[in-house]
This record gives sequence, structure tokens and C-alpha cells, in this order.
Amino acid sequence: MTQSPETRFRTSQLEENDGPSVNPTDNRTMGEIIAARFSRRGFLKGSLAVSAIAATVSPLALVAADEARATEGSAFKFDELEAGIDDKHHVAPGYDADVLLRWGDRLFADSPEFDPVKQSADAQARQFGYNNDYVGYIPIDGSAEHGLLVVNHEYTNPHLMFPGIVKIVDKDGKKAAEVAPLSKEQVDVEMAAHGGTIVEIRKEGGKWQVVRDGKLNRRIMSTTEMALSGPVAGHDRVKTNADPSGAKVIGTLNNCAGGVTPWGTYVMAEENIHGYFSGELPEGHKEAANYKRLGIPEGAYEWGAHYDRFDLAKEPNEPNRFGWIVEVDVNDPNSVPRKRTAMGRFKHEGAESIVARDGRVVFYLGDDERFDYVYKFVTAGKFNPNDLAANMNLLDDGTLHVAKFAEDGSVEWMPIVFGQGPLTAENGFASQADVLIETRRAADLLGATKMDRPEDIQPNAGNGKVYVMLTNNSKRKADQVDAANPRAENAFGHIIEIVEDGGDFAATKGKWEVLLKCGDPSVADVGATFSTATTANGWFGMPDNCAVDSAGRLWVATDGQGPKATGRTDGLWAVDTEGAARATSKLFFRVPIGAEMCGPLFAPDDQTAFVAVQHPGDGGEDWEAFGRPSYYEDLSTRWPDFKPDMPVRPSVVAITKQGGGKIAV
Ligand code: FEO
Ligand code: CA
Ligand code: CA
Repeated sequence: MTQSPETRFRTSQLEENDGPSVNPTDNRTMGEIIAARFSRRGFLKGSLAVSAIAATVSPLALVAADEARATEGSAFKFDELEAGIDDKHHVAPGYDADVLLRWGDRLFADSPEFDPVKQSADAQARQFGYNNDYVGYIPIDGSAEHGLLVVNHEYTNPHLMFPGIVKIVDKDGKKAAEVAPLSKEQVDVEMAAHGGTIVEIRKEGGKWQVVRDGKLNRRIMSTTEMALSGPVAGHDRVKTNADPSGAKVIGTLNNCAGGVTPWGTYVMAEENIHGYFSGELPEGHKEAANYKRLGIPEGAYEWGAHYDRFDLAKEPNEPNRFGWIVEVDVNDPNSVPRKRTAMGRFKHEGAESIVARDGRVVFYLGDDERFDYVYKFVTAGKFNPNDLAANMNLLDDGTLHVAKFAEDGSVEWMPIVFGQGPLTAENGFASQADVLIETRRAADLLGATKMDRPEDIQPNAGNGKVYVMLTNNSKRKADQVDAANPRAENAFGHIIEIVEDGGDFAATKGKWEVLLKCGDPSVADVGATFSTATTANGWFGMPDNCAVDSAGRLWVATDGQGPKATGRTDGLWAVDTEGAARATSKLFFRVPIGAEMCGPLFAPDDQTAFVAVQHPGDGGEDWEAFGRPSYYEDLSTRWPDFKPDMPVRPSVVAITKQGGGKIAV
């Protein structure tokens, strides 16, 4: 490893893809498309009424419309929480926010108690993992109060996990933190802290409890044996010394968001896989361009020093075995998770799904990188609601599509199919397996629209719409934006709404609209488009995860706010999407400093909102709000009051209304 001590400080910077953009094409950016679209006249058509108003109606009329929104009111009935910054989580008045699971919590009767100074891979394998991101709920016997919670553990922050590895040094007259190299034992803990948790939970007396030793409880880790299935399984490009079959993979990496399928399996998205690989490919290796397009190797992790499979010099094909959607059968704790290669290989953010009118199942997939793409996968087969087991291999056969957003407000979903258009031998593809291994290059050749970091994408069965979270894009240049998307260095992100043609989620065409440009609306230069009914607490930046409750209402979780970016911590906001209140937003929950807000998820009866507080205290510096270093530097002297339950552990929080009832009605 050739990292400097500083680069070992593994923070959400890596998770946020803050490295160089790796899309080499000159496909048009979303900003260019939006700009071109709004600079034209005469697009007052279809479902584009709101943008049409923004482009053609006088400012006075806009004020009147906003006042109407303010009086008509929001669909969300709760007293808004005050935005702010401190070391605790907060929820709107009248609600309880109870920690359900924290990093290190016991999942089995034989799990050891969490002890940060006695960590081991064996202990971690029996405990809740680190950095919880996606949260899903799979009912047991149809219950909204008894089910399996499935939670992704995206990545690890060693400076927050391991006491004594951070040293404060003077560097050029300034205080700087250095992180010592990790031992093999610590790397093993990291590998066990990744992946996912499947755990039985039950609501008793209005409060959720973990059913320790539930018979389906399970940890998925970076050491769990998995299968590659679908078109890439067994291909030469995924064969390694350790696996000449090209069909057996050890582990999953960087499981960000995900989904629960209509047939009750758990899908995990492998996102920032580049950081785990180090070393150099052999000179002239055929995968060089493929890996460059994904930023591999990035080398933030030290796993390659201890395990050959993460060292490109020793196992040059290993990275092709990551970057997939992984499906887990939760009903058998010994089932082999399957990497569903038909769904493409990129930095997968999430995998929310919906059954289309004809029974095929549609998965919306974001590739979270600046200037990368929005995808959807449509199964070839149809969902069988009467025989759930009959659906278990639906994800091995279907068509992956990538989105091209046109300036006339239409979106085209272009199929990524070997032999069609440019996806031929002339461009180096010999099969669908080649196309899928290099999904990004295939999408480049198709001319897909470069987006501002596509994160969660959520279909809404209630109104037929699809919400696309675009978190930000600091690399957008001034000449790539104009009045309609006036933010060079799009710092605060935006949300796009898609309506598929005919309300059919499997359609290959649709219409799109900007629902919201985020950021502080009181700063004119920001260009945010929250309604004027939105209070000073109600606006947000950096939309990342989202959820739709069973009333069809949108909730948006953010990643990347904080003292410098927005003067408030990340949190969960309720966003009106319909009627006069459209684009009104209200703050419901906020996280401790340094954390991002993940999840969110509503129980099927809408009486609980589960949220995931990821990497509280992260930031690599002394957060004044904590009154102590947020990392375990010099534990014995600088943090004498250390207790394992201090609010620095990633956690899943269950939010319920005091006295019971549905959230926010
Ligand atoms: Fe893992 Fe794109 O957030
Ligand atoms: Ca995310
Ligand atoms: Ca994120």
C-alpha cells in the first residue's frame, strides 16, 4: 500500500465519489439538457405544467401561486422540527425516535456483547454491522408488527471503529490526524462489518424489539460465499485463480441502498467497489480501460495487503466480480446469495422495484457517480403472486435500459443489448456478458444522459410517477448550465419526476420534469425551487435516499449537509409532490453531526418510520458539538468517559407517533 496516513482517513468523501469523474464521453449533461429545454419556447405540452409556469408566467403570478400553496397546506400533518447542528438525533414534536439497532448489537443468543477494545471478526460476525444504509421490511405472515428487517452495511470508518489508531501530529504548523496502518485482525473485522443484516423484529406495547436468535437472523459479509448468476456467470473475464469456474464469489462490497422484491427477497446494491482494490494490473492488461471507467483501483482500503484477491497484480479479474445487484433469499439462512449480472455492473446505488401492468417487474437503478446514468431493468418473465418460489430466478433474464432525457421533456429508455446499435464486435463486445461487465461503456456508446450523481430512484404506485434523487455534482462547469439549472458546481442537487408513457412502468418512453432544485431558497444565487410555504427549517440540500409511504407521499433523506455546506445536519424531509402544495418541504428528523441519513422506510401500516443514521461523528476532526474527538484518538486520556452507548455508533432508529397512529396524518 502506498497511501499516506491522511488518505487512510476513510470518510464519506470516498462514499460520495469525490474523486475525479471517470466518464470520458461528451454525452450531454443533465444541466445542458435542462438548459436547452427551458431556453426553448413552445413546450407547453403533456404533464409539464409546473415547468411551463416557471418559464412563461410573470413573477407576480408565481408569488400568487405560492401563496395559494401556503394557504392550501401540506399533505403532511406534523409540527416541523427545527433545523440545527448538535451531537444527537431529533424528531418532530409528538414523536418518539428509539434506537432499535446499533453497530455491534447482538443478533444471536451466543453473540458477545459489543466491546470496542476487544473487537474480533468472530464477534462482529454475530453482531449488527457497521454503517447501516438501506433498510427494508419483509412481513412475517403479512404482519406490519412482526417481520424481518434487512439492513445494508455499506462501508467502514476505521478511525471511528478502532481505538488508538489515530494520532494527532503537527503538520506545517497545523494539527493533523494520522491513521496507523490496520492489522490483519482489524481488516478482518472490517470485512465482517460489511454486507448486510437480516434480523427478526416485533412490535410489543407500541415499541419495536429485536428478536435475538430469530431463526432467520443472519449476517451477510465480505466473506460470505455467493454465486454469480445470469449472463456473466462462468465467463472468462470473471474467472480467477481461486475460482476457475467464474461462478463462485467470496463476499459483497459497499452495499449502499437496495430493495425488497415483490416476491420477498432482499436485494443489495454494490456501489463504491473501487476503494477495495489496490496494486497494479499487469502491463497491457485487457481490463485496463474497463477498470479506469470505474476508478479502479482506488486503494482506500488495506485489504489487498492481506488478501490476494484485492490485489490487481495477483487477481486481475477480481473487480469484474463486484459492482452487481445481489439477491438474498431471506427464508433460508443458508441460502447462497446470487449476484444478478443481468442487472448490469456499475456503482449501484439502489434497486427499488414495482410490478408493471403486464406482470413484468421493473427495477430502477442509479449509478452514483458524477456524469453517470439512470437505468431500469425489466424482467423478461412475469411476477407470479400465487407462487412466490416461482419468481426466484426472475432477475436472471430481462432487459437493462439506460435513460436519455430529451429537451422536449421526454425520456427514452434505451435497451442495453448485445448486437443492437453500437453494442457489437466493432466496439469490442463479443456477447451480452461483455456488455454487462462494461455497462458504463455500453451506456456511453448509446448516448445516455450524464446526470448529477443518481442516487435512489423510487417508483410510486399511487400516482404512477418515479422520483430520481440527484445528489449534487461539484464538477459541473459553468458552460454546462444556464438559467433553468443555474448552478455551476451543482452543490445541492435536485429531484426529477418521471411519468412513464401510459402509466406503464415497463414503458420504454416517458415524460420528465424537475420536481425540485434543492438548497437554500433565501439565497437567490442558489436557484432553489422550494415553495414559499417552505420554512427556514424546511429546505434541504443533497437528496440521497427516499421513500414513498402508503399514502403515496414522498420523504427525502439527505447526505452531505453540515456546518459548511448548509449549516444544518442531514435528516428526513417530507416533500409535497401534488396540488398547490407541490415543492413544499418540512423537516421531520435530523441526525447527529457527521452522519448522513439513510433508510428511510415506512412499515406497511405507516405507523413506523425506520431510519438509518450512518457514520455519526465522521469528519476526521474534532466536532465541537461532541465536546471531544469524534474518533477514538488517545482513548484513555482524551475520552475518559467513553461508554459503548455514546452516540457515535451507526444505528437504525424506529420513529413512532406518541399515543400510536399513522406517521404524519
Ligand atoms: Fe452510498 Fe451513493 O450513496
Ligand atoms: Ca446513497
Ligand atoms: Ca450517500
